[in-house]
Amino acid sequence: MSKKIHIFDTTLRDGEQVPGCKLNTSEKLLIAAQLDTMGVDVIEAGFPISSPGDFNSVVEISKIVKNATVCGLSRAVEKDIKTAAEALRYAKFPRIHTGIGTSDCHIQKKFNATREQIIERAVGAVKLAKSFVEDVEFYAEDAGRTDNEFLAKVIQAVVHAGATVVNIPDTTGYCMPHEYGAKIRYLVENVKGIENVHISAHCHNDLGLATANSIAAVENGATQVECTINGLGERAGNTALEEVVMIIDNRKKGQFHTDIQTRMLRGMSQMVSQKMCMMVQANKAIVGDNAFAHSSGIHQDGVIKSRETYEIIDPKDVGVDVSSIVLTARSGRSALAYRAKNIGINLTKVELDQVYAEFLEVADRKKEVNNDDIKIIVEKVLSPARA
Ligand code: KIV
Ligand code: ZN
Repeated sequence: MSKKIHIFDTTLRDGEQVPGCKLNTSEKLLIAAQLDTMGVDVIEAGFPISSPGDFNSVVEISKIVKNATVCGLSRAVEKDIKTAAEALRYAKFPRIHTGIGTSDCHIQKKFNATREQIIERAVGAVKLAKSFVEDVEFYAEDAGRTDNEFLAKVIQAVVHAGATVVNIPDTTGYCMPHEYGAKIRYLVENVKGIENVHISAHCHNDLGLATANSIAAVENGATQVECTINGLGERAGNTALEEVVMIIDNRKKGQFHTDIQTRMLRGMSQMVSQKMCMMVQANKAIVGDNAFAHSSGIHQDGVIKSRETYEIIDPKDVGVDVSSIVLTARSGRSALAYRAKNIGINLTKVELDQVYAEFLEVADRKKEVNNDDIKIIVEKVLSPARA
């Protein structure tokens, strides 16, 4: 039976940490409502202690979200946890996300503490959070650089204290997929009772491996993936939601599934891009403008004959109406004939040969030949003959 992978969206918390991407409450509400409709399981609405604005956003998002769990971040600090609980008071399904750094680097350099003290604080935080809400997620910050034996000790302690989800962040984007997968597997095999909680993957993209690491985690026992729309987030960003969802849909069918309505992915991406003033790169997987655009002659000829020759995803499945055939100097006759036909110009073989020569001249001068250009070219080359 196919296992459900829970999608935890942190666009409004980790994603919003991108410099210059600050959202106001009404923008956050629009995005949260859309995420809820799209089927995400958890919306991390903010970090309530961080500012009155963030606190207010978590309160308002809690009021409007109908299906998803609403989550608020906190450090393993009493005031943070109490503030998160207060901000989540209207949520139908509230979750407090609390945690602390577990790598030696964080323990020594950030906390000037010992490993034992970290476990004590972790357990204390989970117990306090648990006194407010049933659903408590614990994050072991910098788990990617934490040695597996100590990580398992921390996770064992917080599972015992009542955590319902254990988040294993690769905070610095340091792990290779085989290492991150092995880390998850190590926890599965060495923490008693871990089968009763969700293991969550939270990956950053410093080496461009966030999506690969998240999938490795799923293959090794993680049942939740934390991600953001368009992969937005600190530094090089977080795991891109649309990538994880489509990898699971496209390559892991039968084994895993998510509840995401994939046809909303492109619209969601555009909404977040616009509200956060962060352009999506044209070649971004799944949601970029060029994700279903074909410009070289060989590819265009294949796609016109059968879409599957150069596309592994039907663009409609992610909310893109059609694959596009972009006319450039690399395009062949079949692409030109196809585009001309789309605007009502049916060219015979002889006409196509004549028009194609002029098309190449124009294409060499311009980056892209558009519909108006096609009309002008056809008119110029063929109108004496057709008249
Ligand atoms: O990357 C990270 O470690 C985080 C935690 C706060 C969950 O974002
Ligand atoms: Zn993060």
